[in-house]
Amino acid sequence: MSESLPFDEYKTPIANLLEVRRRSIDDLEGFWDEKARALHWFKTWDKVLDDSNPPFYKWFVGGVTNISYNALDVHMDSWRKNKAAYIWESEEGTIKTLTYLELYREVNKFAKVLKDLGVKKGDRVTIYLPMVPELPISLLATVRLGAMHSVVFSGFSSSALADRINDAESKILITSDGGYRRGKYIPIKEWADEALKNTDTIEKVIVVRRTGKEVNMVEGRDYYYDELMSKVSESTYIPPEPMKAEDPLFILYTSGTTGKPKGVQHSVGGYMVWAYWTLKWAFDPKEDDIWWCSADIGWITGHTYIVYAPLMHGLTGIMYDGAPNYPAPDRVWEIIERHRVTILYTSPTLIRMLMGYGDEYVLEHDLSSLRVLGSVGEPINPEAWKWYYTVVGKERCPIIDTWWQTETGGFMITPARGISLVPLKPGSATFPLPGIDAEVVDEDGNPAKVGERGYLIIKKPWPGMLQTLWKDPDRYKEVYFSRYPGAYYTGDYCIKDEDGYFWLLGRADEVLKVAGHRIGTMELESAIVSHPAVSEAAVVAKPDPIKMEVPVAFVVLTSGYEPSEELANEIKKYVAKSMGPIARPDSIFFVASLPKTRSGKIMRRLLKAVILGKPLGDITTLEDAASVEAIKKAYEEFKKAVGGA
Ligand code: WT7
Repeated sequence: MSESLPFDEYKTPIANLLEVRRRSIDDLEGFWDEKARALHWFKTWDKVLDDSNPPFYKWFVGGVTNISYNALDVHMDSWRKNKAAYIWESEEGTIKTLTYLELYREVNKFAKVLKDLGVKKGDRVTIYLPMVPELPISLLATVRLGAMHSVVFSGFSSSALADRINDAESKILITSDGGYRRGKYIPIKEWADEALKNTDTIEKVIVVRRTGKEVNMVEGRDYYYDELMSKVSESTYIPPEPMKAEDPLFILYTSGTTGKPKGVQHSVGGYMVWAYWTLKWAFDPKEDDIWWCSADIGWITGHTYIVYAPLMHGLTGIMYDGAPNYPAPDRVWEIIERHRVTILYTSPTLIRMLMGYGDEYVLEHDLSSLRVLGSVGEPINPEAWKWYYTVVGKERCPIIDTWWQTETGGFMITPARGISLVPLKPGSATFPLPGIDAEVVDEDGNPAKVGERGYLIIKKPWPGMLQTLWKDPDRYKEVYFSRYPGAYYTGDYCIKDEDGYFWLLGRADEVLKVAGHRIGTMELESAIVSHPAVSEAAVVAKPDPIKMEVPVAFVVLTSGYEPSEELANEIKKYVAKSMGPIARPDSIFFVASLPKTRSGKIMRRLLKAVILGKPLGDITTLEDAASVEAIKKAYEEFKKAVGGA
């Protein structure tokens, strides 16, 4: 696995890094006691880590702070107040710049609006917005009041939105009069109205004007953002609510192995410290950087690395509201050139897509401003890594491949430019950050042998870890801490090589990764089964050259329905509508029965083997061997009929 090592500029970069990490883990409390002081606290903590009730760890106990103060107020007494916090570009080409002072004013004004609508500490605010400046403003105003946000990706369906509103029992919804994607109008307010039919906690709805289209407004419930803001004085100041470090900061829902999405709950103090330091360690940003994290704020990547961490560092960030290949395949390169972006942080799916268009789109643009490139969301295949490194970065920019999860709050395993940049190996996220006691273990919890695939676990708590699952502490214990008692189970496969590098290999559980997004198998199956024509469904991941994985579904029809291409399309559409377009099955195979064990569990492993054309392995526990043959046949016939699934 040894590649040419492009950044061997230190004598012993690996040893340096391992030494920093060893010391941090040997004295976790001492280490974090020092690091947390980089941020502003209204009161410092009495105890760095309270681990008396595992796995419910408390960080910086007794500390009082507010993350909006660290993101905004700290910059107000320096020249930074006139620096751009965000440069926003819309798909249509509008560019708006918001300085730190302007952002601070908007956040204070909007905090006043929310306060007047009754929002107070501990309340939940659901935010369902496209990538408009009002999105970070909404997050910051919410946490300034000590309330918690629950951001729902604006591409999610109304039923996903309704579930998340109901689970969080939010009283405010912030949404928009629509959005644009590839020039097409997206009726976000309509979806929100649909969701509101099935929720009963929302008292007020705030509507941001993004398109200017006339939308349905409910008297006494719905208000336009700009109208509410125009009534508030420009010099409004809302003091940031003094928050205990261990108070909850926000909830963000993500998919798990069962049907119900998990409300990942992050803390005020620990998350703040982790967000700040991880960005510094991995990317080592400088004052004059132009930082572009191309994620949507609807995901954790956007929460941590578009909103909180870059603002705490006083960086200028790009926000792009549109499709990355619209109106032409060079949109990303054009944006980099136009705004002189210095750090690009994006996903392997996007890199593979752009690679597919050909080098000429990249070469047409002056990308000499770039100094560092980042990757996140899924393992990056060496081919895409090399293309990113040579064609985009001209062999000048290190690739910072960041492994982490919604639950971890920030980067966990990644090259650490800000500490000691180790020689890079395409496809390896290299080493864990300071404070992260990661290990690859076998089924029994023993360290896996060098080069042998095992499960990645984290053996000690870290500040950015989730506090619990919202309203479900038992599930938190069960999902993350039951498999290897005392350690956090990531759900990922991993290999450690002979040099100690970590190679993340994807999910070990029934979670799909489609274009970097997490989709639960069971969640998708229940969405399919809710279609009247379907009686049973099983979903497995099929490898995809661009998106890494796509869901394919094996479907047993209700009697009276006949398999047809129309029906397959209708089911696909139905799923896209109920879960959102990212969950849309790539193909649907109609079968007479599903392979099940005698205890009734669907053997997805077999379905996967069929799709991959692999040997089926042990099928002695199978209840009905004939179903596998039938599935193989259905799959082969389908492939013939449509020229490949
Ligand atoms: C899962 C977490 C982290 C923010 C975006 C996704 C996979 C993520 C990498 C990477 C290999 C990766 C893992 C992980 N993953 N980054 N650099 N290399 N795999 O957050 O939706 O919570 O997904 O994404 O499988 O468990 P998420």
